[in-house]
Amino acid sequence: MDYAAKLTEIQAQGLYRQLQTVAGPQEARIQLGGREVINFCSNNYLGLATDPQLAEAATKAILNYGWGSGSAALIAGMMSPHQELQQALADFFSVEAALLFNSGYHANIGAIPALADPAGAIFSDSLNHASIIDGCRLARCPVHIYEHGNTDQLESLLKQHSYTGQCWVLSESIFSMDGDIAPLAVLGTLAQQYNCGLYLDEAHAVGFYGPEGRGVWEAQGGTAPELFVRIGTLGKAFGSYGAFALGSRTLMDYLINHARSFIYTTALPPAVAAASAAAVRMIQQEPQRRIQLQKNLGLFEEYTERCVSSPIIPWLVPGNTAVLAADRKLLDAGFYAHAIRSPTVKVGTERLRITLSAMHTEEQIAGLAKALKEL
Ligand SMILES: Cc1ncc(COP(=O)(O)O)c(C=O)c1O
Repeated sequence: MDYAAKLTEIQAQGLYRQLQTVAGPQEARIQLGGREVINFCSNNYLGLATDPQLAEAATKAILNYGWGSGSAALIAGMMSPHQELQQALADFFSVEAALLFNSGYHANIGAIPALADPAGAIFSDSLNHASIIDGCRLARCPVHIYEHGNTDQLESLLKQHSYTGQCWVLSESIFSMDGDIAPLAVLGTLAQQYNCGLYLDEAHAVGFYGPEGRGVWEAQGGTAPELFVRIGTLGKAFGSYGAFALGSRTLMDYLINHARSFIYTTALPPAVAAASAAAVRMIQQEPQRRIQLQKNLGLFEEYTERCVSSPIIPWLVPGNTAVLAADRKLLDAGFYAHAIRSPTVKVGTERLRITLSAMHTEEQIAGLAKALKEL
């Protein structure tokens, strides 16, 4: 295979950017390509990734437990920090059990095939994240894709196809590229009505969405079907690394025994789990971070005169060449909002994926809005 020939000119430019934080823990200033810019594309929504309290928790754990976990969780890799984190997550989300995965990607490629029933099927939103798509590809059952957010179409698919085995409805809550919010109450009702399980990926919502930061499901309310699994990542608002599944003790036990990406991999380093546990505490004790993020969303709306539904804001600049040019122009103005090209998003919907954080100041948001208007 001639791999070089398979790269388009745009792909060959690569976009692997080396960043360096140049500011204090409460700031979004970074060094990129030798100059200082404001980071508007990180998922560090609450600023926890750079907070010293996480670093301190990790340092303490390294001194107590060493660096590596040395083994898969089911063998000898599960240590006290992992167990404490699982308990803290189960308590925070008021669920029977939480199960740690090494990342959100691991969670989806492990939990979805484990839960899928060969005699059933999966019904999945067309804009679900690549890790959910890969989980579906590994699941040995039919997969029906419904148009993004179109619950009427989902219902007609549910009516049209009947299976003897267990079916699941799969959706994100806040969509990772568009920042819009799924109609969760309707999804819950449909799942219940058609005897499906509901699998909700709240990667971009847990930690900051809702009055307590427990995500969209908790904030919007809804009736969960009997089989209900939520996924959250620790790599975004929690500022750490790793991910978790939430649900009944039985479902988590089932995943422990059947999710291959949980069973056949080395457990997270204990220090990572300890830092994540510190983040869970901070999210409960420092509501001002969520409040500031919410204020920043309002400021962005005010300065750009656009409505936003979440801190993920797609600024459409159709065409790979055009979006790369916009990305560079923004960098020249001192702002970093990474270009998202096709095929990561559909052709014609290429965009700058802007993300807001509690760390941004009003001056920075106003500056970004001005630069966006000048694009
Ligand atoms: C919806 C969704 N699920 C899962 C993931 C993967 O999470 P992680 O970065 O922890 O692997 C992402 C990452 O962007 C995501 O957007």
